[in-house]
Amino acid sequence: MSRDRKGSRSGPEEKRLQGHWLLATMGKTVLRPGGLEMTEALLEHARPLPGETVVEFGPGVGRTARLLLGTSPARYIGVDPNPEGAPALRKVLADFPHVSTRVVTADAKSTGLPDESADVVIGEAMLTMMNPRDKVAIIAEAARILKPGGRYVVHEMGLAPEDIDPDTAAELQKEISRTVKVGARPSTMDQWRALLTEAGFSIRFAHQNPMNLLEPRRVLADEGLLGTARIAKNMIVNPAGRHRMLTMRAVFRKYGEHLCGVGFVATASKG
Ligand SMILES: C[S@@+](CC[C@H](N)C(=O)[O-])C[C@H]1O[C@@H](n2cnc3c(N)ncnc32)[C@H](O)[C@@H]1O
Repeated sequence: MSRDRKGSRSGPEEKRLQGHWLLATMGKTVLRPGGLEMTEALLEHARPLPGETVVEFGPGVGRTARLLLGTSPARYIGVDPNPEGAPALRKVLADFPHVSTRVVTADAKSTGLPDESADVVIGEAMLTMMNPRDKVAIIAEAARILKPGGRYVVHEMGLAPEDIDPDTAAELQKEISRTVKVGARPSTMDQWRALLTEAGFSIRFAHQNPMNLLEPRRVLADEGLLGTARIAKNMIVNPAGRHRMLTMRAVFRKYGEHLCGVGFVATASKG
C-alpha cells in the first residue's frame, strides 16, 4: 500500500525511508542527536553576526536555518544533495525576505562555492552518515570555503567512552545503521576532534550531551507543545511510522550509555 505524505494510510514508505526522513514525515523538525539544546550552545559560541555569510551543510527541514536567519545574516546558503527537505526549508527561508538566501543542490564535498566566502559553516547530523573518506572531504570543503578566522560548527553523534570496546562500537554501528537505514558512523569526542585539527581547524568550544533524540522530554524541548502533539497524532494515525520510531528509540536506548551528541566550534586558520 502506498501513502502520500499527508495521508494517514501506512505502507512500504515508512519501512523504506531513511530514519531522518521518516522522523520528518512524522512531524519531527530537529533531526540531530544533541537536540536544539546543543545547537543553541554551539551558536552561542560561534556567534553568527548580522551581515555575515552563513552556509549550512545538510539543512534538513530548516530548523537550524530558522535560528540562523534570526541573526540577520546578509546571506544564507543551504547545501544539500537530497530533495526531501527542500520544500520545508524553502518555507522557512520565505519567512526572512530581508536575507539573501540560496539552496544549492550539491554534495557538501564539493559545494561549488567560492574560496573564503563564508563566515560561518554549520553541519549537523550529516558527517555521522559519511564514510571516513567523505568525512575528511567535507571537513576540507568547510575549510576551503571559510574565510580566515571563520567558524565551523559541527554537531554529530558521539561514542563513549573514549576507550569503548571496538566490538561494542562495531555492533552498535551495525545495529543503528540497520534500524535507521542509513550508515551511522559515530565517533568518540577525541576522534571528531582529531578530524577537525588534522584539517587545520583550532577547536574553540566543545560540548557533549546525552543522545535523547526520541525521548519524550527531549521531543517536547525540541518540538514544543504543538509540535509534540502533531507527532503524537501522526503516531496514532500511522502505525507503520510509529513502529519505526519506536524501533529507532529502542536501539538508541539499548546503546544509550555509549551514545551522545557532540558539538564543536572550530576556527579556520589559513596558512
Ligand atoms: C540527519 S539529517 C539532519 C538534518 C538537519 N541538519 C538537522 O540536524 O535537523 C541529514 C541531512 O544531511 C543531508 N545530506 C546527506 N548527505 C549529504 C551530503 N553529502 N552533503 C550535504 N548534505 C547531505 C540530508 O539530505 C539531510 O538533510
